[in-house]
Amino acid sequence: MRDLRQLVSHMTIQEKLAQLSQLSGEAWNGGKLMGIRYGVTLDPALVRMAGSLLGASGAKTVRDIQTEHLKTHRHGIPLLFMTDVIHGYRTIFPSPLGMACSFDPAMVRESARIAALEASVSGLQVTFSPMADLVRDARWGRVVESTGEDPWLNALYARAFVEGYQNAPLDAGGVLACCVKHFAGYGAAEAGRDYNTTEIGDYQLRDSYLPAYRAALDAGARMVMTAFNALNGVPCTGNRWLFTDLLRGEWGFDGVAITDCTAVYELVNHGFCADNADAAAATLNAGVDIEMVSDTFFTHGERLLAEGRITMEAVDSAVLRVLRLKDEMGLFDNPYGHADEASEAALHLCPAHRETARALARRSMVLLKNDGGTLPIRDGETFAVLGPYADSRHMLDIWHCEGREEECVSLAEALAGRDGVTVLPCCPVNADGTSPAVPDAALDALLVKAAACDKLVLALGEHPSMSAEAGSRACLDLPEPQMRLLRKACVLGKPVAVVVFSGRPLALTEAHGLAQALLQAWFPGTEGGNALADLLLGRASPSGRLTMSFPHSVGQLPLYYNHLPTGRPKHGRNDPERFRSRYIDAPNEPLYPFGYGLTYASFAYGGVTLSASVMAAGETITASASVTNTGTVAAIEVVQLYLRDMAGSYARPVRMLKGFDAVTLAAGETREVRFTVDADMLKYHTPTGYQAEAGGFIAFIGPDAATENGAVFTLLG
Ligand code: BGC
Repeated sequence: MRDLRQLVSHMTIQEKLAQLSQLSGEAWNGGKLMGIRYGVTLDPALVRMAGSLLGASGAKTVRDIQTEHLKTHRHGIPLLFMTDVIHGYRTIFPSPLGMACSFDPAMVRESARIAALEASVSGLQVTFSPMADLVRDARWGRVVESTGEDPWLNALYARAFVEGYQNAPLDAGGVLACCVKHFAGYGAAEAGRDYNTTEIGDYQLRDSYLPAYRAALDAGARMVMTAFNALNGVPCTGNRWLFTDLLRGEWGFDGVAITDCTAVYELVNHGFCADNADAAAATLNAGVDIEMVSDTFFTHGERLLAEGRITMEAVDSAVLRVLRLKDEMGLFDNPYGHADEASEAALHLCPAHRETARALARRSMVLLKNDGGTLPIRDGETFAVLGPYADSRHMLDIWHCEGREEECVSLAEALAGRDGVTVLPCCPVNADGTSPAVPDAALDALLVKAAACDKLVLALGEHPSMSAEAGSRACLDLPEPQMRLLRKACVLGKPVAVVVFSGRPLALTEAHGLAQALLQAWFPGTEGGNALADLLLGRASPSGRLTMSFPHSVGQLPLYYNHLPTGRPKHGRNDPERFRSRYIDAPNEPLYPFGYGLTYASFAYGGVTLSASVMAAGETITASASVTNTGTVAAIEVVQLYLRDMAGSYARPVRMLKGFDAVTLAAGETREVRFTVDADMLKYHTPTGYQAEAGGFIAFIGPDAATENGAVFTLLG
């Protein structure tokens, strides 16, 4: 074992503070901080001694930087290379929200393993993933990076990501250490506006928002990133309760905590710190170790120590944690990690990785409507493909790491070998999210051509820049030129299928009313076009299920299925009573609920049967229902188990997802799908601890969160 404490004892204050500083890759060469309006020129000593770099990757680049660094570092402490490998490194998988709709954690784990493999040969050691933020408001652009609105499912996926990235000891090849983010509650940004404040009560925080971060840590994530938001008035980056009391104290986390990018400077903007020195002290004293892309520790640390505003003990502990991670990654013995140009050439975008990307993209797409069997398009049928995505390689959201649009397969390319396809691109969206007006005459001319085909496929949606960080929207409609195209297409009298590319749930109410079929494609990644063609042409059936509710209108947001009951619940969609918790001008229900998604088959559910109606502590019961494929083709049905706790010390959500089983059923096949219900599923953060409370429960089994197919049981005290 390397004696890291001894190493720390030989370091100067400046050397220690530099270990706690992460510079952007550009900074290392140019001495300039990355973007976001700061443009600070760095002290050359910090550039020379910094502990880690953000965003520098590529086997040759990393080797060159590390070689230069080690030439001048007095103790030979290597740099750590970190970046945002979010859903693939060079081979890009669907955006996380899309991946989540697969309801297939094993595939998500595999995508993370592949991402780690590609990134590790390019010299990276740490990824800023998974993002475990729970989201309930589709206005927030970063929903694209999340796995959705359910705490239990988010926890499952957070674990899957960590297991995929950290699939072997950290010094092994093909492994990335994980940094779970953004701690905590970033997804609750008020009004869906990015970086905005959050107010989350203790009950909601512990029950809904924290479980996924915790699951990532339980799975072994080595790092945690602060969130930009203030949580109940205290910015997370300087939140001592969050990082010291909860994370390090209550949860026993002893890994590295890092700020988000420039978040230390932002403590001044938050009105939480008077100046950068104050911000440095608040961050270190909160229990955070590394500042990302800012220089406050290095610039002010020595003075803060002299003034007793931070302690050497806190600095040493932070440095030790950073050095331990470097040691665990094997960098003291092999500072280049697994960076290897030959392996890059062999592994990046190799056929096996592309095939997994295609399979996962297929599983991520959600069929929202399919009247009259509009989809799939049958052999011999002719069809026109129109819209901005008809022949576009905008298949990647803005967190695409080293993925390149030119390496993506567009829909038109994927359909190229098929007879009877007419591709008519139109209505482009600019990178700033604006949509140039398209003259009616131009649309009409295209539609004359399209009208000669049996069916129309409209490939519509948002530009990737319209979601992700700083991609909040107040209006969630499809761009107006695209809606005009859709309205015109729908009067031709031909079946119209709309494919929606977006990072978030859009308000598709009008499109739902107009089109015969709707397929949600998300940003599907490198193999997006091929995956889409597989579904459109019926080579596979859609099987994705929504992990976020789709609203009728923006006014319903935040919108999520697992809300608490009210004292005046609305009884069904058509309840005429005014004095209910309701809108007078919109339904309460989403356009498409959580868990929803169609296939090319259809499924019938039998009633829920319980093995017992009473459950004593320590016992389990089995909840089951028969599921029959009543269609004519085989398909995957994601059978879902929800529980409701009828009365508790706190009001409990009207539904809570607690299990699912993705079963493949042949046409006509029936299967009894069984779930084991145990007391752990019934536990929550009560005022007197994490426990299950005796009383009545309902177990629902159905195709989505709106199911009423349930049976009652009692948990004994
Ligand atoms: C984002 C983080 C990301 C970091 C580094 C920030 O702007 O909020 O999610 O990990 O940049 O790229």
